[in-house]
Amino acid sequence: MDLLFLIFAICTGPVLLGSSSRVRLVGGPHHCEGRVEVEQEGQWGTVCDDGWDIKDVAVVCQELGCGVANGTPSGVSYKPLAEKEQKIFMQEVKCNGMEATLFHCERAEDVFDCSHNEDAGALCEKNVRLAGGPGRCKGRVEVKHQGQWGTVCNAGWNLSAAKVVCQELGCGRAIQTRRCCNKATQGQGTIWLTQVSCSGKEVSLWDCPSGHWGKNNCTHEEDTWVECEDPFDLRLVGGDIRCSGRLEVLHEGIWGSVCDDGWGKKEDQVVCKQLGCGESLSPSVKARRSFGPGVGRIWLDDVHCSGKEQSLEQCQHRFWGYHNCNHKEDVAVICSEQ
Ligand SMILES: *[C@@H]1O[C@H](CO)[C@@H](O)[C@H](O)[C@H]1NC(C)=O
Ligand SMILES: *[C@@H]1O[C@H](CO)[C@@H](O)[C@H](O)[C@H]1NC(C)=O
Repeated sequence: MDLLFLIFAICTGPVLLGSSSRVRLVGGPHHCEGRVEVEQEGQWGTVCDDGWDIKDVAVVCQELGCGVANGTPSGVSYKPLAEKEQKIFMQEVKCNGMEATLFHCERAEDVFDCSHNEDAGALCEKNVRLAGGPGRCKGRVEVKHQGQWGTVCNAGWNLSAAKVVCQELGCGRAIQTRRCCNKATQGQGTIWLTQVSCSGKEVSLWDCPSGHWGKNNCTHEEDTWVECEDPFDLRLVGGDIRCSGRLEVLHEGIWGSVCDDGWGKKEDQVVCKQLGCGESLSPSVKARRSFGPGVGRIWLDDVHCSGKEQSLEQCQHRFWGYHNCNHKEDVAVICSEQ
């Protein structure tokens, strides 16, 4: 009787799609790609890539609720790099691919010989998308489970959940979310989730509690629609190469500059990353000035990023066009790539 009750409780309680996991992927474009970090005693450390292969990545992908394993990139390709002081927790990991977590895989007893140059990375398939809309940042919320894309029922869903999706997809802020869809725009496949409840602070939709996969009484008329702002369109001008120059941002069809009040390393980093230009080289003031002042609009001022953002859009800033600057204060950025 007790056992039956236990099974009943396990099967009917809310599920956390993946937050109990003690592995995460950092620095990538979404939560299913990046440098591998594992948690031990409240600290996050990296994994050494000695013998790291696709089976090991498969376990990570599975553990995170991501799709299939697509690659074993070096952890060093994800910026910002691991801090020097950050610990390396695992070496010579050897999974057979069926383990429930990376912690169940064989590994060396200690980390005996490894540096952050050998950090392991993982590339798994993304498992959230906005479908059937104009562009990748507006559309019907779809999640992938057991290899199939399906929809999310609007019951229990709110703007906080939309915010998590927008951030996870590297889009801008969540503008609105609603129940959608007429016959022409609704989803076709399984309705995978309902009662998804996010506080808005989660890194991924997978960290929000929800009902069980595929268990609901929803119809496709209750599919969920989300609209995020598009990420800012950025360019670097005045230099010889794509990845160095004065920063300009497109708004209302007009390119304008960004004022350097409060601008620093973290903001540099977000720009380089968003443009696919590697890391910021943290140039001197003189080097920055070499691109000359801009002309025309000054669109942004007092930009503040935490450094974790995927795009400048997710950082705080004043209203478009509000500033107390002149063009001598235009931001310029120099990144490591060409
Ligand atoms: C959305 O719902 C969650 C709980 O389900 C709650 O924590 C959050 O504050 C809500 N957000 C909004 C914008 O109402
Ligand atoms: C679906 O509806 C049936 C009949 O009303 C009910 O018994 C069942 O609990 C519902 N299932 C869910 C997951 O809400």
